[in-house]
Parts: sequence; structure tokens; C-alpha cells
Amino acid sequence: MIPGPTPVPEKVLQALSKHPIGHRSKEFQELVEVTTKNLQWLHQTQNEVITITGSGTAAMEAGIINTLSKGDKVICGENGKFGERWVKVAETFGLEVIKICSEWGTPLNPEEFRKILEEDKQKVIKAVILTHSETSTGVINDLETISSHIRDHKVALSIVDCVTSLGACNVPVDKWQLDVVASGSQKGYMIPPGLSFLAMSQKAWVATEKSNLPKFYLNLKSYRKSLLSNSNPYTPAINLIFALDEALKMMKEEGLEKIFDRHNKHKLAMSNAMKALNLKLFADEKCLSPSITAIKTEEMDAEKFRKTIKNKFDILLAGGQDHLKGQIFRVGHLGYVNDRDIITVIAAISQSLLDLGKISAYEAGQALVVAGKYLE
Ligand SMILES: Cc1ncc(COP(=O)(O)O)c(C=O)c1O
Repeated sequence: MIPGPTPVPEKVLQALSKHPIGHRSKEFQELVEVTTKNLQWLHQTQNEVITITGSGTAAMEAGIINTLSKGDKVICGENGKFGERWVKVAETFGLEVIKICSEWGTPLNPEEFRKILEEDKQKVIKAVILTHSETSTGVINDLETISSHIRDHKVALSIVDCVTSLGACNVPVDKWQLDVVASGSQKGYMIPPGLSFLAMSQKAWVATEKSNLPKFYLNLKSYRKSLLSNSNPYTPAINLIFALDEALKMMKEEGLEKIFDRHNKHKLAMSNAMKALNLKLFADEKCLSPSITAIKTEEMDAEKFRKTIKNKFDILLAGGQDHLKGQIFRVGHLGYVNDRDIITVIAAISQSLLDLGKISAYEAGQALVVAGKYLE
């Protein structure tokens, strides 16, 4: 129950074990054609979605180096570990970063974005870069409102990390006019790590013509050209693409609305059950991510608690990152997760707290009763 790698369905595992095929074969081209169409469906976009062999950070880096130039001024939203990563990538490539920060556990304030963008009369800000679902804290940022302010600016591109939001909640890429959307395979996609994805708007492709940052393997123009013939510029992770095909078919069978509803009810079951156990949520309740719940342990060492649950129930929970290590634990509930997984992890947490004498048997039971209200 960590926020990635997430559980992989049997059908997807079987697809992985097929013998690889040639990446210049007709059979592979047919596979790319279908997966690209289904990726467009998942992203709710008419534009190309590029598949890269590399983890989510490869897509993040590709998004920056293909659309921006040295010295460009950009805004980076930072309210957690992955917002920090955006700043690091941007600074690595010599961009001038204006940070909009919010305390970890609280959401970015869209008004701050609006204000800076409105004041930029000279249109020197070339991009607004942010994380939708901040996995390190369990916060979901208000991307819909922030992207509307970016659109009003007209020049700046939106470059967004949707690594733990895509496939878990609504990310209508075209409707919100998002320009560059990065995601990774080991999350909502239900496949192992190794692939990442980039949805690019027409405005983003126009920006690639001006971009002067160095790139070779991640030059998206090569990927776009290859995609015209349903191909790939280099040898892709063929077996992961077999898996992607299977996973996207499963997602289509379930349907977007049902996928989003499932994640939402798991979020509600988890967060309310934790409150019934007298535990405090780390994230502000108004902006809980559908993919991950971060829980404070206060005087109890979160790392020891995680170990207890691993040893006793063989359930892996994620720990806190950086200064939050030992202070919080995080339960991932994205991708191939069902009601049984949720009720089991809640029961394991309840039982462990009961064993430690932190709660009564009544409270332990109450957590399951509360969760049950959301699961049906
Ligand atoms: C929000 C977010 N962004 C980016 C990443 C980085 O992805 P990767 O580890 O696949 O490079 C992760 C991974 O956990 C993530 O959760």
C-alpha cells in the first residue's frame, strides 16, 4: 500500500512475460497505434501523448528541456518533495525560478499565481510548473483554478506533474488547456516502473521550435516524428508496452468515472477511518489527494509503526520524506486497489494501535464501521 510501484493485475503481469517483438515490426506499430489512442482517451486529449522509456522524472525533465530556453523565467509551485524536484530540474537547466511556496501539507494558493501572472505585463514568464497530487504530503493542488490563471496570461505554458493524479482523478487535459502533462507507469497505470508519458498541447509543440536547451535522447521532436508512423526513435521497453496495452484496456472497461469514484471513496474511507482512530491527517482536509493519505503519528515513531505493520501483516506503508521521516506514514491507494485492500490496511493499523495500547477495542472496531460507510 505504497504510492508506487502500485499493485499489478494478473493480466498485466502475463502481458509482461510475452516474448519481445521487433520494435520496427508491423505488429509493434499496431500496438503503438492502439496504446496511443487509449492514452489520449485517458488524458482526455486530442493531441499526441508521447511514451518515453524512463521513469516519471524523465518525462518531467523532457517537458522542461523541450519547451524552454536558458535564462527563461518560470514560476514553480512548491509545497512538497515533488514541487522541490521541479525547482531542481528547472535550476539544473539554467532557468530563472520564481517560487510560489506553501507549507508542506497545505495547498498552493491559486491567488498567488494569478497575482504574479497578472503583474507580468511584459510577458517574461514563460511557464508555470507545478505538481497536481503532491505524493509526499497527500495534498492535491487546485490545478483547475491555477491553469485558468495561466491561460489568462496567454504566453506562459502550464507544465504539470500529474504522476499521482492521472488515472486517479479527473485531469481533462484539453478542457483545462494544460500544455505539458507528465505521468509515470508505476502509479495509476497499474504497470511496473519504466515508462513515462507526456501529453503536449499545440502551444507546447510551437514552443519546442524555439527551445535551445540541450537534449538528445529526450528530444520530443524525434518522438513526435516517429509517432507519425506509430513508431519510436529508439528501442522502447517493448514488454512494458504490452503491459500498458493490457492495463489501458482494463481501464477503458472500468470507465473514467468509475475509476475516479473508486479512488474518491477509498480516500474518504481511509481518511475518516484514521480520524476514528484518533490519528490526525497530515494534509489539509479540503485538499486530500485521491491517491494517498498521509497520517501523523505525533509522539509515536512512524518508522517503528511501519515496521510493526510490515512484520505482523506483511503490508508495506510508505514513510515520511525528508524532515517528515518518523513523523508521518503514508498509505497509497491508487491504481489496482479495491475495497478489500482498504479494509485490510485499516484493520491492520487498528489492530497495531490496539496492541500498542493506543486505542480501545471499541475504537478499533469503529474505524472499520466508519470505513464501511464509504465502501459498497
Ligand atoms: C508526484 C510525483 N512526481 C514525480 C515522481 C517521480 O517519478 P519517478 O520516481 O518515476 O521518476 C513521483 C514518484 O513517486 C511522484 O509521486
